[in-house]
Amino acid sequence: PLIGSALRRADGSSPGRVLSSRARLPEPYQVPLPVPDVLDPVSRGGGTDVYELTQRVADLEILPGLRTRAWTYGGTFPGPTVVSRSGRRTQVRHRNELPQPSVVHLHGGHTPAGSDGYPIDVILPAGGAISAEQAMKAMTEGMPGHGGHTGHGGVSGVAEAERTYTYPMRQRAATLWYHDHRMSWTGLGVWSGLAGFHLVRDDEEDRLPLPRGDRELPLLITDRSFEEDGSFRYPLIDPDLGRPGVTDDYMDGVLGDVVLVNGAPWPVHRTDGARHRLRLLNGSNARPYRLEFDPQPPGGDAFVQIGSDGGLLERPVRHDAVHLGPGERFDVVVDFARWKPGTRVRLVNTLADGTAHDVMAFDVVRASAADDSRVPDRLSRVERLDPAEAVTTRDFHFRQGKDGWTINDDGYRPGRALARPKLGQLEIWRFTTSLQHPVHVHLNHFQVLSRNHGDPGPYDAGWKDTVDLRPTEAVEVAIRFTDYAGTYMLHCHNLEHEDMAMMADFVVE
Ligand code: C2O
Ligand code: CU
Repeated sequence: PLIGSALRRADGSSPGRVLSSRARLPEPYQVPLPVPDVLDPVSRGGGTDVYELTQRVADLEILPGLRTRAWTYGGTFPGPTVVSRSGRRTQVRHRNELPQPSVVHLHGGHTPAGSDGYPIDVILPAGGAISAEQAMKAMTEGMPGHGGHTGHGGVSGVAEAERTYTYPMRQRAATLWYHDHRMSWTGLGVWSGLAGFHLVRDDEEDRLPLPRGDRELPLLITDRSFEEDGSFRYPLIDPDLGRPGVTDDYMDGVLGDVVLVNGAPWPVHRTDGARHRLRLLNGSNARPYRLEFDPQPPGGDAFVQIGSDGGLLERPVRHDAVHLGPGERFDVVVDFARWKPGTRVRLVNTLADGTAHDVMAFDVVRASAADDSRVPDRLSRVERLDPAEAVTTRDFHFRQGKDGWTINDDGYRPGRALARPKLGQLEIWRFTTSLQHPVHVHLNHFQVLSRNHGDPGPYDAGWKDTVDLRPTEAVEVAIRFTDYAGTYMLHCHNLEHEDMAMMADFVVE
């Protein structure tokens, strides 16, 4: 079941080439939906929860009967889910037993710069097989404007075998995720399995009568392709550099022909006829999704959106479909009592041409399950950022330049800051584009003020850290950086675009 490309050029044509699998693929809905384990802390005390994760190669059975060699956090894909309490410090000690250097970024984390996963602040593989110099060379050689080194020491420097990332968690409840962020290698790293959920919980959210326990499902949606033997297929173009270099064929990013949800191909989940909270995360390298249920429930509005990237909305927003760009999260409640027991409810990705492609299915097995959950009309208080208070407006143009993908005509170069916002001051950032780019900003969430000079779109509500720009669009956001000064990133979350240099530093002063 090939899945088409959902990327579109300004003229409506579809440039994205889907990388076909060579392996025998299962029929959809044969594999039960896995739910990632929650990671236990190794210690809890003094206001800090400490976790340990070993990054290592693991052979996973993703396609029935075949082995997929993956790069993993702790031996699974997705990695285990870390659950933090708002206001309690979380530390994650990462040990790198991969054959490659790695960098960990907590996406959506309000994180001091030294723990944010600056793209050249690698953890070298344990055992010393790769030196800091070799690691730097592999990240920068051949990149536009680099002579094989950056001359920049990074934010927290190179670590040997281990690094402890400290997350103060001075932030509200939200669905975050952690993933690899190594310069020039993020696409390959994430494709190979380096991604997992990191949830933040708080008292405000706990007090709401939302579905919980088995009825709260994190869903990591990714696309992949497979070689005949079951290994991940990824276009590794530049064998001399040993680096994923992406040729014209993949200028729009790498699209796979298999959808994995929580690491399983087109899985199926048996469910009661009851409300479920689905934390949708698009962890795909380059593929946006427009998710719909088939069949739709009577009366439509299957998705009751309660949150976005940065946690709860003020009030729920109802949708027939949700659009998820790479990196974005939508927190939705779906009431499976709206379908008759015995119904197979498919979650599908609908493309612009109207075709629907499998993602996963929910089999509604029992009608009258006890369900005391509900979605209140008021979920939270969301402080509205007032654009009248903005001290400056900055423009960021995302486009294709002669050297690859650029922001304001520059490809990424560590240490070169595109903006120097001041701590605590409100700014307006204006993103413009000719093609489709999901734009992501580190450190703080933002609010979308306008899309194409009009109102924000139906999927722009609440606190966002990633906003999907469609071809030729202009999006204005209000953003205020708080608590931590230092060097951070903004970039396109199409990971091949990011690797092809569509990334920039900004320095919070
Ligand atoms: Cu999810 Cu800078 O990335
Ligand atoms: Cu892009």
